[in-house]
Amino acid sequence: MSNLYLVGFMGAGKSLVGRLLAERLDRSFVDLDVHIEETVGMAIPEIFEAQGEDAFRRYEREALAWTTRVSDAVVATGGGAACDAVNLNIMHASGGRSVFLDVPWSVLAARLGQDLGDRPMITTEKEAKRLFEARRPHYQEASWTVALTGRETPEQVVSLVLEVLAGVSCAT
Ligand code: S3P
Repeated sequence: MSNLYLVGFMGAGKSLVGRLLAERLDRSFVDLDVHIEETVGMAIPEIFEAQGEDAFRRYEREALAWTTRVSDAVVATGGGAACDAVNLNIMHASGGRSVFLDVPWSVLAARLGQDLGDRPMITTEKEAKRLFEARRPHYQEASWTVALTGRETPEQVVSLVLEVLAGVSCAT
C-alpha cells in the first residue's frame, strides 16, 4: 500500500490525527516537519529565521521526495507542503493519496490564536486568514476532502478519514 498524506492548514490537526490514524491502520507515521528538523538539525522557526522560507521549502520538498521511499506510511505534512503542484505530484506520482482535513477558518483562528507571532508565516489573524483563503483551493486538489466542523475529537476525525478510505476500497 502507498503512503497517505494528510494536508491542510496549520491547526487542522494533521500531526495528531496522523499519529492516531497510523496506529489504527498499523502503519508507520512520519511527521514531515519533525523529519525536516532532524535532517537539518534545527527547529522549524530557526530554519525560517536563519535561512528564510525558500530554504525551508527546499527542505520540505526533499523531505517529501524521501517519503516516497518509505512505503505504507501515514505522513502529516506542514501547512504549506500541498500548496505547490510539484509537491502534490511527488505525493501522488508514487501512488500515494492525500486527504485534506478541511476545518473552518473560525475554528483554525481560535486554535492558532495563542501561537500567532510564534509561528513562521503568520503574525496577525488577518494575515493568517488571507493565507488560509489563498491556500484552500490548493488543499482541495487533494485526493479526498474530509469536511470537519472542528468540534470532532481526534478519534472521530480518524473514523471519518477511515470512512472515506473504506468507501474508496468498496468502490474499486
Ligand atoms: C507551515 C506550517 C508548519 C510548518 C512551517 C510552515 C506553513 O506546519 O511546516 O512552519 O507554511 O503553513 P504545521 O501546518 O504542521 O503547523
